[in-house]
Amino acid sequence: MIGDLKEILLDEKRLAEKIAEMGEIISRDYEEKELVLVGVLKGSVMFMADLMKRITIPCCMDFMAVSSYGAATETTGVVRILKDLDYQIEGKHVLIVEDIIDSGVTLKYLMEYLNSRKPASLEIACLLNKPERRRVEIGVKYQGFEVPDYFLVGYGLDFAEKYRNLPCIGILKEEVYK
Ligand code: IMP
Ligand code: MG
Repeated sequence: MIGDLKEILLDEKRLAEKIAEMGEIISRDYEEKELVLVGVLKGSVMFMADLMKRITIPCCMDFMAVSSYGAATETTGVVRILKDLDYQIEGKHVLIVEDIIDSGVTLKYLMEYLNSRKPASLEIACLLNKPERRRVEIGVKYQGFEVPDYFLVGYGLDFAEKYRNLPCIGILKEEVYK
């Protein structure tokens, strides 16, 4: 599996350090507030679990599943909801937890969708950000790393459902998906 990587961009140690930092800031910002983390399945699961362990204030978790990719490496621009929230978010402070922002289409759609449920606040925490690829404007409050425009896998990120279990994040060799 690791042999399909052209390069390791972020190893376990760098990921853990950054996520600890993010957890600390979020814990401070949301003190005394009712915080709900909404993970976007399935890419965010590793980040969600590790970030949540670094949040030191009470918080709940919920998940949504959306699809905009199929098995391709380029977004289709159409977002479908595959799984909705289990709980109400009205009046709560919601933080969307996402693995990576690419075109921004998925998060833009999710922001509008969740805003219509009247949360007290709505922000984004993403581990990775590929600003070069942005097609729609999005305000990201908490960001782990800015990354170059390569197709990345590992630590939750997949190509055709594979590589999610790699503990690091790397650049997938082009010959694997071309
Ligand atoms: P967006 O709507 O184009 O911003 O796409 C966001 C979603 O596409 C992310 O949540 C990922 O699931 C997926 N994605 C975007 N870039 C990559 C990548 O480099 N590797 C794996 N998945 C990606
Ligand atoms: Mg995702």
